[in-house]
Order: sequence, then C-alpha cells, then structure tokens
Amino acid sequence: MEKIKIGIIGLGTVGTGTVAALRRNRELINKRLGASIEVKRIAVRDIRRPRQVDLPPGILTEAADEIVHDPEIAIVVELIGGIEPARSYILAALRAGKCVVTANKALLAECGQEIYQAAAEAGTEVAFEASVGGGIPIIKTLREALAANRILSLLGIVNGTCNYILTRMTEAGLSFNEALTEAQKAGFAEADPSLDVEGLDSAHKLAILATLAYDTCIPLQEIYVEGITAVEPLDIRFGRELGYVVKLLALSRETDGGIEVRVHPTLVPEGHMLASVREAHNAFYITGDTVGDILLYGQGAGAWPTGSAVCADIIDLARAIRRGKKTRLGPPSFRQPRRLLPMEEVVSRYYFRFSAVDRPGVLSKIAGVLGDHRISIASVIQKGRDEGGSVPIVMITHEAREADVRQALRVVNRLEVVTAATKFIRILEGQHFAPSP
Ligand code: NDP
Ligand code: HSE
Repeated sequence: MEKIKIGIIGLGTVGTGTVAALRRNRELINKRLGASIEVKRIAVRDIRRPRQVDLPPGILTEAADEIVHDPEIAIVVELIGGIEPARSYILAALRAGKCVVTANKALLAECGQEIYQAAAEAGTEVAFEASVGGGIPIIKTLREALAANRILSLLGIVNGTCNYILTRMTEAGLSFNEALTEAQKAGFAEADPSLDVEGLDSAHKLAILATLAYDTCIPLQEIYVEGITAVEPLDIRFGRELGYVVKLLALSRETDGGIEVRVHPTLVPEGHMLASVREAHNAFYITGDTVGDILLYGQGAGAWPTGSAVCADIIDLARAIRRGKKTRLGPPSFRQPRRLLPMEEVVSRYYFRFSAVDRPGVLSKIAGVLGDHRISIASVIQKGRDEGGSVPIVMITHEAREADVRQALRVVNRLEVVTAATKFIRILEGQHFAPSP
C-alpha cells in the first residue's frame, strides 16, 4: 500500500489527539484513502517530557527544521501555536513544496494573507479546519457546503472557556473566578486565559470565518472586541427574568452600510437555538441567502475533537497527493475589498442597568436623556434598594445606534442621581430567514 509520510510539529493537547486518532482508526483511514499515513517525525520543545501516547523510538526530535526540510515528508502539521516560530516553519514548509495543516487561529488571524499567498506561489495548500470550532466542520461548511450562498449572517459561540464560565455563573451561581478555575482544570482555557476571557481568541476565529464568508481580508484590529470580564451575576439574573441568556457571541453580518464584525457579550432570547448551547460547546448559526438558517454544534476544543479535524485535513490533502496534486481547494479568495461597518454605526436593541438613588423624578431624568439621543424605551423594571440606598433600574430599548447609546450613557453617568457607571449589553434579535425565489 502506498505510504504518505507526514511530520508533526507539536505534541501537546492537539498533537496528542491527532496521533491518537490516526492510530485508533488506522485501518478505517487506510481503507478510505487507499494509502497509509505514516507519521515519520514529531518535533517538540523538550524531548524528555513524558508523553500521553506511546511512540516508536527515535520519532521525537527537538529540531523542527528537520521535518520542514525532509524530502520524504509530504505534509507538515503545525500544532505548536503562537506566531513565531510557527509562522517561519509553515512558510519554509510551503516553500519546500509541502502541504501544511495547522490549528493555529492566532497565526491565521494575524498573518493569514501572507501564508495563503505563500501556499499559492508554491502551488501547495494550507488546510486549517481545526483552527475554528475544534471538531465542528465550520471551515468546510463555509468553503464548500455553502459555496453557492451569500452569507447574510454568521453568529458563533466560538470560545469554549467563555461559554463554560457563563454557563456555570448562570446555572450554578459560581463567581467568575471560580468558573474560570474550573475551565482551566478541564483544559479548555488557553495557557494565557486572558486571550479567552478578553475576547481575543473569539476575534481570531471570527477574522478567519468572516474572511471566508465575505471573500475579503478582515483585519484583526478592525474587529470590535469586548470580553466577558465585566459581566456581573446581577445582569445574568435580570437577563433571565427578561427571557434572555448571556452568551459571548462572535458575530458577522452583511448590512447596507458594510460588514459588521464584532465580539461581545450578548443577551440571546431563550427561544433561540444558541441559548441552549451550554458549557464548553461551540455552535455556529449561519444564514445563507439560498440555504436559509443552519446550525452546527459540537465540541469546540480538546484533544479528540480537534485531533479529528486535523486528521480530516491530513486525509483530504493525502487524497490530493494520491491524485498527483498538491492542492485541493486552493487559497481562500480575497476578491473584493469590502467596507467594514464601524461599531458606532451598528444598530441593536440594548439592555441597560442604571444604578440610581431612589427618589421621585429619577426615572424621567434618565428617560429624558435617552429621548434626547433618539433612544426609545421598550420596557423598564425597578428592583428594591441595596444597602447604600441605590436602586438598579433595568431597561430594554428598541433599536438604537451604538454612537447614540454611548453618548447618552456618558450624559446619564454624569447625572447627580446616578451612583455608578451604567452597564449595557447588546441584545440579539431572534429573526429567521426563509429564502424565496
Ligand atoms: P500545547 O501547549 O498543549 O502544545 C504545544 C506543543 O508544541 C507542545 O508539544 C510543545 O512541546 C510544542 N512546541 C512548542 N514550541 C515548540 C517549538 N519551538 N518547536 C517544537 N515544538 C514546540 O498546545 P495545544 O495543543 O493546546 O495547541 C496547539 C495549537 O492548536 C494552537 O495553535 C492552539 O491555538 C490550537 N488549538 C487548540 C485547541 C485545544 O483544545 N487545545 C483547540 C483548537 C485549536 P513540549 O510538549 O515539549 O512542550
Ligand atoms: N481556549 C479555546 C477555547 C480553545 O476555550 O475555546 C479552543 O480554541
């Protein structure tokens, strides 16, 4: 049977899952491929560290260069993460005529164009299914299954750590720090968990997805990013009373003014399918102009699910190699520069929680400021006093412009009856789209 030799750089969580999955389903994969995949070398940082999988003697090396320049290796799998040296290894492998598989969302979000272009110039391919959504085939879905669609919107719960934290705060009443500690113990969180909780990991993933959805380069720095560190248990509770669940959403949407790309905590209506995505699961709710609404759901992180996605890319490329080719799909297209809608121009409904003294006339003062800024109130609830004599006033608005909201809240926060900075959370509209001829 023909052998296709691969080299893996990185044998941590995802590298271990990849090697284990290739081994567990070896017979099945060989049969499907009509060839066998042989892991020739694996590069790590420290060859002496104990490993979670049994390995043949001599397979490990600390010299990743040996893999990148080995003429027998047809596919290089980069699973070390971060920008350097991952970027240099990938570029060198592509220039040496090899196909590349990577799970490195940070690298693709920051240097994707350079890497795709290097692959195109070398006549090879970089495959990256595992970079977003762990085991969920979201990249394949966007690039292949939905190729005939204009993507009207893409809503994603793309960070398992944040979804886990919000679920535990909502359902078990845990504090943010208690829930984060649990997520770290379970192995979902990045080595630096601020990447998760500050929203940057979600922004990396959104940059990759929106680039594919809209055939345009989405610069990471143009994505609006707000993490979950400011979400308070009180807002989760009031949200629930009003029929919403707080989720960190990565959202891109085509509008008349441009493409929206944003990551922030969002109140999702309880009846929306994304509201029931719990713990470390990920989900993608995509609306295409032809297909309508679809939902992809599953495990967005961890050794086995992510290893499954890495193996799928290896098998895809091995199939192409068997046909005498080094590409399957080619690089993502960057056909048209598109306007990205500045956050100030985004229109949404909002949840506000004002902290104010409990005195006649306070509500009308706040409502007056909102009215002056074209913000119309849909509902109001006022809760009992706290010990300092301050009361939370919760409002839901009709659709308003972000710029008006920020300006209005600056004015409200300066009112002498307002005792603390106003909290606000954007609300997701639960619309459905049915394509028609
Ligand atoms: P880990 O930190 O668990 O593993 C990293 C591996 O890379 C280790 O084996 C380490 O070696 C090796 N390594 C680091 N630097 C070098 C180097 N310079 N040369 C050779 N080897 C090196 O990372 P993960 O497996 O969690 O993540 C890998 C990639 O997959 C990242 O891009 C991550 O963002 C992405 N990803 C991770 C997911 C997850 O669930 N963990 C899910 C989806 C994507 P040693 O073992 O000797 O220290
Ligand atoms: N830290 C990431 C998460 C890992 O929690 O989703 C998967 O990309």
